[in-house]
Amino acid sequence: MANDPKQNDPGLSRREFLTKASQAAGWGGIAASLGGTGAGTLRYMIPNILYEPSSIFKIGKPSDYGIGVDTRLTKERQIWVVRNERGMYIMVAICRHLGCTPNWFPDQKRFRCPCHGSIYDDMGNVRGGPAPRTLWRSGISLDPVDGQIVVNFNQRQDPDPKGTDEGLIVEEIGREVPPFFINV
Ligand code: FES
Repeated sequence: MANDPKQNDPGLSRREFLTKASQAAGWGGIAASLGGTGAGTLRYMIPNILYEPSSIFKIGKPSDYGIGVDTRLTKERQIWVVRNERGMYIMVAICRHLGCTPNWFPDQKRFRCPCHGSIYDDMGNVRGGPAPRTLWRSGISLDPVDGQIVVNFNQRQDPDPKGTDEGLIVEEIGREVPPFFINV
């Protein structure tokens, strides 16, 4: 008896099998294509959002800070909290030359930038090196409800300094004004 594939295999003939396989591949391709289009559309509908830390933040109560330069928030918030006999201000821990983070040397009462040697005093005046301007000060206020210090990091005080024998200096009394100084 001659070999009949249908008799040997009660299931699909070779031709039927190939036809079905090719149909399945076709539907799979369409589904993949629709899936890709859908994903692309969804991606288009969801905007690119970059979640960054807020530029307005609280840093505790004035009583948490003593006289002098406090460096506890330098890494986390890029600020120094400074208290003098009259009140408090916030200096931005970014060198005005090319943006490195200066280090505070309390024994010298100086900030020194490790990158190119700019030197600042505790008021942010430039006492040496290539920095072209004094350190920024940020906005500072007190929350009327909980009494905490509120820092507005992007609100910047940046007065023109005077070139003197001592460096690039801004008169301190002119800087100690709201919203860059609190009398506490
Ligand atoms: S970045 Fe500070 S001196 Fe250059």
